[in-house]
Amino acid sequence: MKVAVLLGAPGAGKGTAAEGVCAATKYLHVATGDMLRDAVKKGTRFGVEAEAWMKRGELVPDSTIVAIVEERLNAGSGSDSYLFDGFPRTRQQAELLEASLGKLGAKVQHVFFLDAPRELLLSRLTGRRICRGCGRNYHVVNIPPKKSGVCDGCGGELYQRADDQEATIARRLDVYNAQTEALIAWYEKRGVLTRVNSARHRDEITGEIVRVLSRS
Ligand code: AP5
Repeated sequence: MKVAVLLGAPGAGKGTAAEGVCAATKYLHVATGDMLRDAVKKGTRFGVEAEAWMKRGELVPDSTIVAIVEERLNAGSGSDSYLFDGFPRTRQQAELLEASLGKLGAKVQHVFFLDAPRELLLSRLTGRRICRGCGRNYHVVNIPPKKSGVCDGCGGELYQRADDQEATIARRLDVYNAQTEALIAWYEKRGVLTRVNSARHRDEITGEIVRVLSRS
């Protein structure tokens, strides 16, 4: 099994990079944020538990996240290569992932830290729009659709995420600094961290990650 992780602040471009990397490789995109939003939409037990935390820009409890990820991995995907986006996000999640993979004789082989300055994160998050139909990601200035408010791919309506309001964005960035940033050093010590300058065109970022993945 191959496992890689995209680590970075909200708006660093994890989801955007994951789309490009997974299109160019056999890696399967596993995004805990997307899985949680889907659970909220469907009103499942996990969704009901997660919604209030997400609305406030706080992290969902580790026990819920780990249960969701395990459920996904146990569901069987036909793939043996996973690209985690937004997971792990706490030291406890990282340790639980290490333990679960250890039981399968696997480990995290690569962690890509997407690094961008705060003002860029803010402008990316406030300008983000997502397709209600297929989930494709846009930005009103950087990656605009051909027709305003309409997805180029499926023609679906574009919407703004509930947690992309300025006050919630500020809270999410603080939570990242307090609870997730320490994972950079944690993975660096394990020798698996690659720093990626994410203040560049998405194709350059994707290309760099794909080159590293294809070497192992
Ligand atoms: P999640 O959905 O994971 O949100 P996030 O980490 O805050 O990250 P974002 O999705 O906001 O940003 P991104 O880095 O993916 O950027 P994107 O590519 O979209 O989590 C949401 C919530 O769920 C959390 O707050 C928490 O409550 C909960 N949660 C999730 N996982 C959890 C966990 N493991 N533990 C506990 N709770 C968890 O890009 C942003 C914008 O910039 C887009 O508009 C895009 O088009 C644009 N853009 C991206 N890259 C570029 C580029 N290179 N050039 C120009 N524009 C770009």
